[in-house]
Amino acid sequence: MIAFDAKTNLFHLRGASYSYVMFVNEWGYLQCLHYGGRVGGDNLTYLKQIDFKSFSPTPPDILIEGVSLDLIPSEYASFGQSDFRAPSAVIEQADGARMSRFRYCSHEIEEGAPDWGALPHARAEKGGAQTLSVRLKDAVSGMEIVLHYTVFEHSDVLVRNAEFYNGTNGKLYLNKAFSFCFDLPADDYSLLRLAGRHQLERMPECTPLAHGTIRLSSERGASSHQMNPFMGLLKKDCTEHGGECYGAALCYSGSFALTAEVSQSDTVRVQGGICEEGFRWSLSAGERFVTPQAFLAYSDRGLGGMSRAYADFYRERVISPAFAYKRRPIVVNNWEATYFDFDVEKLNAIVDEGAKIGIDTFVLDDGWFGIRNDPTSGLGDWSVNEEKLKGGLNAVISHCKEKGMQFGLWFEPEMISKNSELFRSHPDWAVGKVSAGYCESRHQLVLDFSRPEIVEAIYKQVSDILSAYDISYVKWDMNRHITEQFSAALPADRQGEFTHRFIMGVYTLADRLTRAFPNVLFEGCSGGGGRFDAGMLYYFPQIWTSDNTDGYDRVKIQYGTSIAYPLSAMSCHVSVCPNHQTKRTVSLKTRGDVASLGATGYELDLSKLRAEEKEEMRLQIKAYRRVSRLILEGDLYRLSDPFHSNYFCVQIVAKDRSEAYVVGEEILTNSDDNLRRIRLQGLDGAADYTVEELGITLKGDTLMRAGCILPHLSDFGTWVWHIRKV
Ligand code: DGJ
Repeated sequence: MIAFDAKTNLFHLRGASYSYVMFVNEWGYLQCLHYGGRVGGDNLTYLKQIDFKSFSPTPPDILIEGVSLDLIPSEYASFGQSDFRAPSAVIEQADGARMSRFRYCSHEIEEGAPDWGALPHARAEKGGAQTLSVRLKDAVSGMEIVLHYTVFEHSDVLVRNAEFYNGTNGKLYLNKAFSFCFDLPADDYSLLRLAGRHQLERMPECTPLAHGTIRLSSERGASSHQMNPFMGLLKKDCTEHGGECYGAALCYSGSFALTAEVSQSDTVRVQGGICEEGFRWSLSAGERFVTPQAFLAYSDRGLGGMSRAYADFYRERVISPAFAYKRRPIVVNNWEATYFDFDVEKLNAIVDEGAKIGIDTFVLDDGWFGIRNDPTSGLGDWSVNEEKLKGGLNAVISHCKEKGMQFGLWFEPEMISKNSELFRSHPDWAVGKVSAGYCESRHQLVLDFSRPEIVEAIYKQVSDILSAYDISYVKWDMNRHITEQFSAALPADRQGEFTHRFIMGVYTLADRLTRAFPNVLFEGCSGGGGRFDAGMLYYFPQIWTSDNTDGYDRVKIQYGTSIAYPLSAMSCHVSVCPNHQTKRTVSLKTRGDVASLGATGYELDLSKLRAEEKEEMRLQIKAYRRVSRLILEGDLYRLSDPFHSNYFCVQIVAKDRSEAYVVGEEILTNSDDNLRRIRLQGLDGAADYTVEELGITLKGDTLMRAGCILPHLSDFGTWVWHIRKV
């Protein structure tokens, strides 16, 4: 998978369908020659630039008129030494000097993939991985940088990150430390991002690249609802089903930046990592700093091919192997059913009805701990409120058990209410500076997780609850962003380390809890899908996709999310109508069909529903069990885009192509539906398939080339097709 040719100093990394080729040029810089479709073993050094013309200076170790780092594609860009595009790292020396030149020193090729401890990383357990580590040295400051590249067999995702080592005698500062950088040759690219807001996360948006920089970022201390840590780069010919594109996703849940910069010579520099705004990391002699991993994807099968490459990679290499392909519980969650207003009787009434319709797990959301009857108090006091829950948690858990159900519980470990026992005893544990005042959001403050003793205290509280009760599922929420990025415990020259230290505290807690309770399924959440990223997926196999459960908005949210993440990662619930977020009313069928495209569940008061509604839900749950394997393991094909057409439609195909499941939604009813067709994808062209709902049996080729006629439906009506090889 990784080859090195000592004669040409050329590295060739080969994945399932990509080649990544770079070499050490005559001046000692690591230079990319090709990232794209697979090529043979030719000597690609013929692609290096030879004719330099620009207004760019020459660095002191080259001094050949016209040769400038500004024009050389870089694998990790330096600052202040003739490359005027954005640097990948900015290193500050004791005298304040910040210029650097990263030159090749040595390299190693090893089997396996690096293990970065609690910092989420691609898993090597399944074998089939090789890692190239190229050691560079800054000719000015002496800082060493190791660029790691891991190639996985049968995968189109290449994993990269950078590791810094201060081998000098003095202190050095990192003012920027991105994870990766590559420069693509001039071409016509569009940039795809998944932007949004609370209750409307990951809306795909594509714009052409032009000279200058497009920067996708979050400065919120979390990967955020507003901008997902994913960037797509699409060549002009790229469509959903064909053409070339690249993806860059960060395995990181904190503040990040991803940039695409078109240079004076029209080349495109793509790079990213920890958000550099406010970042400053101090490295004493002998210290190391490891940057988060970036997952780079290449596809020559369109955007759909890229999504499938990411989905396979997350399931095989990121999500815990204990859960990646494990059937997920079908839950009922009491949040929208009761909000904070519940007692044991109300909860048990939901459990009773859940058991009757085939639900596996009851999840008790917010409001069970401390004094918590509204959002103004209680966070940080993780002990059961027995005033509210007479008989304690066991009064609900034992009821679940009697009914053959499991029990799940909500926590928000990173937060503290001013009105809490924890704040009264530790007012200095909140993030920020008392004299500056605190910004509040949902009446809460953030706990300073950059401090290990605070992480330890929360670990103790949460693990005490998980040890004391029979709990199979935890929903881990996070309901505000970080404003005052300051820790009372850090010295002045380390305040720039706060946000990364904070997220490392979150990862440390998640690492300890998931190790201590290996049978508990953790679901991630952040005011819905505000932290839907690869870093979270490493610990939490599924994530609450959005607080918006409306049957129309959800198809857009889930469609956008599916561009970069597997369906199995999306937690999707049916809630009541009119919908609590949008006030829209859509049929129960629509809500159930849309929620079947992920880890499904219900989020409403089952005890208040009519018998016919409960019967319909019972049938939905039965039908979901039939497709749940496909949702966990299958290949996704997006057949119709709800952003640019009147129809949402996706198809999930079994890896062996023996069956498929289609879900579609007609957004607004249309009198000429019967004239419209949808063509299937991913089937075995020569095999016969039955489309159960249409009562037809046809060749895969026919279904893929001639297609099927769309049903005529009312506004927001959905259809499903179960397709099986005969
Ligand atoms: C925000 C989450 O997204 C909701 O599902 C719910 O858990 C509330 N928090 C509880 O406060």
